[in-house]
Amino acid sequence: MKTLVDSILTKGILTKDDLVYLLSTKEEKEKHSLFRKANQVKKEHCGNVVYLRGLIELSNICRKDCNYCGIRKSNEKVVRYTLPEDEVIDRALFALRRDFGSVVIQSGERTDRVFIDMLTRVIKAIRERSEGTLGITLSCGEQSLETYQQWFDAGAHRYLLRIETSSEELFRKIHPDNEFHRFEDRMQALENLRKAGFQTGTGVMIGLPGQTPENLADDLLFFRSFDIDMIGMGPYIPHADTPMAGWKTRLLKPADRFELSLRMIALARIMLKDVNIAASTALQTLDPDGRIKAILAGANVFMPNMTPKIYAGDYNLYEGKPQVIDDPMIIVNELEKRLRGLGESIGYSKWGDSKHFFKRVIKN
Ligand code: 5AD
Repeated sequence: MKTLVDSILTKGILTKDDLVYLLSTKEEKEKHSLFRKANQVKKEHCGNVVYLRGLIELSNICRKDCNYCGIRKSNEKVVRYTLPEDEVIDRALFALRRDFGSVVIQSGERTDRVFIDMLTRVIKAIRERSEGTLGITLSCGEQSLETYQQWFDAGAHRYLLRIETSSEELFRKIHPDNEFHRFEDRMQALENLRKAGFQTGTGVMIGLPGQTPENLADDLLFFRSFDIDMIGMGPYIPHADTPMAGWKTRLLKPADRFELSLRMIALARIMLKDVNIAASTALQTLDPDGRIKAILAGANVFMPNMTPKIYAGDYNLYEGKPQVIDDPMIIVNELEKRLRGLGESIGYSKWGDSKHFFKRVIKN
């Protein structure tokens, strides 16, 4: 029998009311229709392939003081590190040998010249030593257009910068009120990424205290109106050494935050069709099968952590972040085993760029 969700989902364009309903319905049958539809849309527009990115956490030094984040500037308990250049390059080449098509280089927000130039050299070295075969995504916060251009020209081609929430009011609640944390600067940075030529990704945290289904529906509408190429989003998870730790009582239960995150992934897939969507690590913290469930709900990018073990423990954005293991292939093999029989496969040695990006570029 057709559910109400089925008839909403057969419509061409989802309205804000539709999205709020789909984020809130308690009916099991309706939830399943939503996830099934998302998976079908993914297969139709992106194939059944999951792309791999080796995640390298370059530095946990950060000039920002976000109220939710474990590596915020004021957290004096964090042991700060920056990976030596040769170790980053080593990890990238390791990813290449393991048939990962790409790496993601992520770091706290640093805008000092030493950092900017160091990353430029690293990008160039990875491109050279992989003979141009390894894709490079960056996720290093808000930077000037010139810096984005420098990194793009060096050979990086995708960039993730989460908006965290598209509600300016909520954004102000979860960030300090100073010049380092301005909503309009984040928006401008997203515009600049596109101007520099990057495939541009964004995303939000899901289940923030005070966040409503209407806020989340607006987030999805924002992704559509910005015409975003990639999405990385996941549940908010508290960290004890942050100002928001005390807001714990206002949170949805972990299982509900997890499910809401899956619904956001499914809806993003249904609305945006051919964008890349990551199965984020935070999902795994709330459910051991979190990332597999995300893939079945529409995600198509998987990012095993490849940060050298001795540093990775200091990159704690939230509590319960999964430990890094010595050989990421254990995780990839497990993923492959689980995907077999579900009609999905792994896109070894592929960049797995955003199809959406190229369609837009060709159109314009
Ligand atoms: N819970 C979930 N995600 C978090 N991030 C930072 N802190 C947390 C947290 N406590 C995410 C933010 C940021 C990305 C690097 O990590 O969305 O953009």
